[in-house]
Amino acid sequence: MIQAERILVTAALPYANGPIHLGHLAGAYLPADIYVRYQRLKARDIIFMCGSDEHGVPITITADKEGVRPQVVVDRYHEANKQAFSRFGMSFDNYSRTSLPLHHVTAQEFFKDFHARGILTERKELQFYDGEAKKFLPDRYVEGTCPVCANTEARGDQCEKCGTYLSPQQLVNPRSKISGAVPEVRETSHWYFPLGTYQKRLEAYIHDRDARDGWKENVLNYTRGWFKEGLQDRAVTRDLDWGVPVPLKGYETKVIYVWFDAVLGYISSTREWAQQKGTPDAWRRYWLDKNTKYVAFIGKDNVVFHTIVFPAMLMAWNDAHTEQYVLPDNVPANEFLNFEGQKFSKSRGWGIDVDEFLSRFPADPLRYYLCTSLPEYRDSDFTWKEFQAKNNNELADIFGNFVNRTLAFCARTYAGVLPARESLNERDNAILDLAGRTPVKAGEYMEGYHFRDGVGEVMNLARAANKYFNDSEPWKTSKSDPARCGTTINICTQVVRTLAILMSPVVPAACEHLWGMLGLTGKAAGQSWDSAGMPALPVGHKLGTPAILVAKIEDEAIERELKRLGQAEEAAPIAEAKPATDPPKPTITFDDFRKVDLRVARVVGAERVPKSDKLLKLQIEVGSEKRQIVAGIAQHYAPESLVGKSIIVVYNLQPAKLMGQESQGMLLAASDKTGNLVVLGPAGEIESGSTVK
Ligand code: 2FM
Ligand code: ZN
Repeated sequence: MIQAERILVTAALPYANGPIHLGHLAGAYLPADIYVRYQRLKARDIIFMCGSDEHGVPITITADKEGVRPQVVVDRYHEANKQAFSRFGMSFDNYSRTSLPLHHVTAQEFFKDFHARGILTERKELQFYDGEAKKFLPDRYVEGTCPVCANTEARGDQCEKCGTYLSPQQLVNPRSKISGAVPEVRETSHWYFPLGTYQKRLEAYIHDRDARDGWKENVLNYTRGWFKEGLQDRAVTRDLDWGVPVPLKGYETKVIYVWFDAVLGYISSTREWAQQKGTPDAWRRYWLDKNTKYVAFIGKDNVVFHTIVFPAMLMAWNDAHTEQYVLPDNVPANEFLNFEGQKFSKSRGWGIDVDEFLSRFPADPLRYYLCTSLPEYRDSDFTWKEFQAKNNNELADIFGNFVNRTLAFCARTYAGVLPARESLNERDNAILDLAGRTPVKAGEYMEGYHFRDGVGEVMNLARAANKYFNDSEPWKTSKSDPARCGTTINICTQVVRTLAILMSPVVPAACEHLWGMLGLTGKAAGQSWDSAGMPALPVGHKLGTPAILVAKIEDEAIERELKRLGQAEEAAPIAEAKPATDPPKPTITFDDFRKVDLRVARVVGAERVPKSDKLLKLQIEVGSEKRQIVAGIAQHYAPESLVGKSIIVVYNLQPAKLMGQESQGMLLAASDKTGNLVVLGPAGEIESGSTVK
């Protein structure tokens, strides 16, 4: 296979009308992030784009329900979801939003081009209208009884119960979602995109790309289903006052259909990224060059828009321009993740938002568990017990244990200085050989979007390494045959380094922590996947201080979660923050404020303070200076979840001793609505040492 010069990766733009939950992560985002992190280790030229989908009926319906403008809703959830993704360790190069003027321009450019070339046709049609609200009722604004399964709560675009795609006119006993009234029928007109005329070319495209890049069977099946039905022309305008305005005179009351604009959001996110870098044309190298491999990660409910609608739009553009957009080379879509045997449901309190999850557990155990149970071929299920078991029995007992026993042994026996590798026996050669082969084997799975199998291969190396440690019995040979013991520990430490690199796409925070424990500079994420299996640590290398890499999750923590199941009412909207309960403090002058030296710092190490259930001891870097601070956050954060994070500290606070530990500063934190302490950090990438003003 000829390798593309560069890779463009997009992940579906989530609607900014609610918090993202674990199902979203398993469907599109975690696989995309693992793929991108893997390709970065392969030193590929790659960018990763995402952002909020801020238009469409789901958002206006939320705004109507709350009695606020749609902008309020999208502002709230854009920020919340961006933060949640970042806490989860998503490594987007840009997280944009479709309400930006730049995006409106991009979407209008396509619309105007298609209109000017006569591709779009206008059709008069009858549409439901709410006489009380004086509004046309597109899609989900109409509800009624499904003609297929008699579900009385079917929506105007789809029946969620039986999955049938519907138009509002097909509903039996239709009613307006705004007023509940029986809608009248009125004439309106809409612009249509002639999807049907692209069918043959789309079939050839899918066939060709599948042969080239091995598409998932589920994606092919959905797509073939649409072809079998015959593609219908699609209306690309709506009678709404929220969205990208139709850029034609006389159509000021209409907006572009959300899906027409959303898929173009990938392009505008890349344009924004290029602008922010100061190279406004850089987006073209990725979108308008045939040497780009474009991979679009999505959840299964978005397949048709990415295998049919978006490619057809790009084909339509390409037909008349010398600059040719790349079409997706692959559209990896996962099936759904259920939660304790049922669908996620906000109203029944079934499921958990990402943010809530991460306020109680670190991201890495979640990333590991989701990765090992991704719904790659069929729906899969999140259960709390399995989450605990995967963390405790695999991540901690296999990976963490091998790391800890190796580094602790080296610290104890060799004062953390890597001993030499003397003559190698068969067992030594076998594990070194496996370490050398693992990047190749796991890499093949990663390239084919089989992330469960990919991480499985890496964990097999950790398993084999544990066995190697046991079988080599260094605790005995340290006395009976010191050269042998040194060889064993050298090899184990080399494999620890291999694992730090190969596990980093899945558990990035733990691997950066581990990189520090190995006494290495740079980042695990900055290494080479291909040479990760080579023994690269020189004899005499000084390791860092070992610490527990993966904390176990206690039974009580899981019991607490199981008790919460199904109890929550519909979550309160997050921006409806309760009024501050602390009384305001006396006014201070600007000069008073300036006495406080607030700095951005980076957490490079974290551990519990012995005999304290409240305190964590953090090693931080403020610019090039290293400091230790002690913070009362042990009940809210697992230590490893903080490593790699940027925080804000009071830099000129008088040092103090807490439980016998020196604290040279204080971090900033605030309580969320459930009383959890959340450590505050900069919202963007800020260099450590920078002053907060
Ligand atoms: O399903 C969703 O959440 C959609 N907002 C996905 C859009 S993907 C792309 F088109 F932007
Ligand atoms: Zn139905």
